Amino acid sequence: MTWKSWTTDLCPVWASVLLVLAAVSLEAEEEVAGEGRVERLLRSMTLEEKVGQMSLRGGGSSSKRDPLDHLDTVRAGGAGALINVMDPAAVDRLQRAAVEESRLGIPLLFGRDVIHGFRTVFPIPLGQAAAWNPDLVEKGARIAAREASTFGVNWTFAPMVDITRDPRWGRIAESLGEDPYLASLLGVAMVRGFQGEDLTRADSLAACAKHFAAYGAAEGGRDYDSAQVGPNLLRNLYLRPFHAAAEAGVASYMTAFNEIDGVPATAHPGLLRSILREDWGAEGFVVSDWESVTEMIAHGFSADARDAARQAATAGLDMEMMSEAYSGHLAALVREGEVPEALLDEAVERILRIKERLGLFEDPYRRASRGFPLLAPESLEAAREAARQSLVLLENDGVLPLDQEGTVAVIGPLADAPHEQLGTWTFDGRKEDTRTPLAALRQVLGEEQVLHAPGLAVSRTRSREGFPEALGAARKADRILFFAGEEAILSGEAHSRADIRLPGAQEDLILELAALGKPLVLVVLAGRPITLERVLSGVDAVLVAWHPGTMGGSALADVLLGEVSPSGRLPVTWPKSVGQVPIFYNHKNTGRPPQEEKILPFDDIPAGAWQSSLSNTSHYLDLGMHPRYPFGHGLTYSRFEYRDLKVSPQVLTPGGAVEVSATVANAGRRQATEVVQLYFRDEVASLTRPVKELAGFRRVTLEPGEEERVTFQLEAEDLAFYGWDQQLVTEPGSFRVWIGWNAREGLEGRLELSGELAPAAAEH
Ligand code: BGC
Repeated sequence: MTWKSWTTDLCPVWASVLLVLAAVSLEAEEEVAGEGRVERLLRSMTLEEKVGQMSLRGGGSSSKRDPLDHLDTVRAGGAGALINVMDPAAVDRLQRAAVEESRLGIPLLFGRDVIHGFRTVFPIPLGQAAAWNPDLVEKGARIAAREASTFGVNWTFAPMVDITRDPRWGRIAESLGEDPYLASLLGVAMVRGFQGEDLTRADSLAACAKHFAAYGAAEGGRDYDSAQVGPNLLRNLYLRPFHAAAEAGVASYMTAFNEIDGVPATAHPGLLRSILREDWGAEGFVVSDWESVTEMIAHGFSADARDAARQAATAGLDMEMMSEAYSGHLAALVREGEVPEALLDEAVERILRIKERLGLFEDPYRRASRGFPLLAPESLEAAREAARQSLVLLENDGVLPLDQEGTVAVIGPLADAPHEQLGTWTFDGRKEDTRTPLAALRQVLGEEQVLHAPGLAVSRTRSREGFPEALGAARKADRILFFAGEEAILSGEAHSRADIRLPGAQEDLILELAALGKPLVLVVLAGRPITLERVLSGVDAVLVAWHPGTMGGSALADVLLGEVSPSGRLPVTWPKSVGQVPIFYNHKNTGRPPQEEKILPFDDIPAGAWQSSLSNTSHYLDLGMHPRYPFGHGLTYSRFEYRDLKVSPQVLTPGGAVEVSATVANAGRRQATEVVQLYFRDEVASLTRPVKELAGFRRVTLEPGEEERVTFQLEAEDLAFYGWDQQLVTEPGSFRVWIGWNAREGLEGRLELSGELAPAAAEH
């Protein structure tokens, strides 16, 4: 089905629905003898019980309701899942009502936003993405699953695999960055971590790929705003991590709050049927986002809750979260012939299959998971390692690693802010368990070597009241560490910012400290890239720590003091100014690409310049063509050299592979980890392709003087893209390839893709 027919003509959707229905009812009659549990249940369920399975109800903390208020509803078969029931005794009581006291004994799902850890909080997902390390991400999700399952949680609303190109959007903190290849790998790693090897294990959680789809394309970076995304960008960018999650067997999907070109994602038949079910053959069920079904009234898409229920159910939404359009209207809609009952059967079947995959019919209470210790030493160590690897060194004139002799002034609102460093979506982590940078530095260096004066109470403080004390401490110290950034509440859902500089008086204080002329290190703890132009020239090093979680302080001390070299790389482009946003590495070339040598510095533009004398290319007069730091950028405490790029063979034939390799040498004086990156560019295609696309990376740890030949394999399907007819194609022609250290710099080579190739069956 084409994009056009989704939005302008839903008839084909109906036709395919009716066909499926006919097939389903025939099968049901023929297979009674050998039918399984799910079929049997479906056959004996009343309409109300089916709608019950399709309803997720609010449980505890965030809905401010006593979860046990739902006991009667659960006994009556009126709920398929509950959210936020965080008392294991209440979980057991409700599960007993479902399994032992309801007519059909169908167990409940207990959902929770376990996003980047549970009691042991890992770095925010954007920080985890900066580690470019799927194994690390998988391990973090596994630990989170084990901890959360001790509370009876069996379903997490993660991973969020929304691609975003907009640091104003608060939920960039929750994202895995701007690149579809990296986000796909890391999203799949999270699915594997949450779901474990075996979903029936009591400590495995059903995962949920969200928010389907294009939520990160919110206009202006304002949360919930519309996404104007065409089919090409949707398929080639926003959907790729969802498809990867589907192939990895993710148990569920959550729809997005936004509309896409006029159709809310929650009732989008093109997404929920054509792509998810027909194209991908996905089996997990789809849940709405929080009240996103009834929000279609405010969108101007549904007349009322009944209309919304009809549209969502028809489009293929299996479960409604929190609002009650389904429970209020779906049974009547079926009785009155407006929604075919077989649509409900399909939805319920998908939900029951996941309950079955979780083993809930055999082991509804999953008590075996209850003993796993929270904050176990190994979990804390894993969180520390994740935080270490998430740190990105943007600048360093040699001041880092810090010399351990002498005194250090620890200044800034994020130096000792245990709640803030946990970041957004931390429902279950506690600040009491959190190790701050100040505490960690004091422990390693000793109390007397560390002079602390925050200077500013919180990140938004405008008062300069604390400046004298901070400057006094700095005067007495040999070096200054300034922990700048944003509080946790300044990123996350509904927390977008129009100005992404350091808030409050932080810049002023940094500049006053810089004027002292002492070595000054800026550490940025934030949920997004922060524009730093005004302070950059005053500081000697910049280390980005994102919101690093429970063990963030220890990890920072490890890296600042040189215990380990930083190894994180930017998973997003870092702008100079918010005015450049959106700015991302995998952009298109345009018909008038910028030419660096022809761009005049702003102040050199002659007065009275002739209209077309300034090159007429795509760039900003005042900021040029580049961001401050490209995607993939990150320094180490050593120095790496790249040489001898080789592409072999140079012609890629159908079914074959080429090897792209280069020698990477540690030419510095310390052991360090380099993230070697592979990019390509499809030079001419039937749809224009980005100027660069990431196709591989490798973390390589080398001793001083050591070198390694790093080899990547590229096959035709790695070069594929979705064409104008939304089919995956590989087109013959010339490709440029790079092995490099960020999206802008590297060694360049070439390859040819030969011969007419059939549409590739495989995904990217
Ligand atoms: C968010 C989802 C989240 C849900 C349940 C919504 O507001 O958009 O990401 O999973 O709430 O807490």
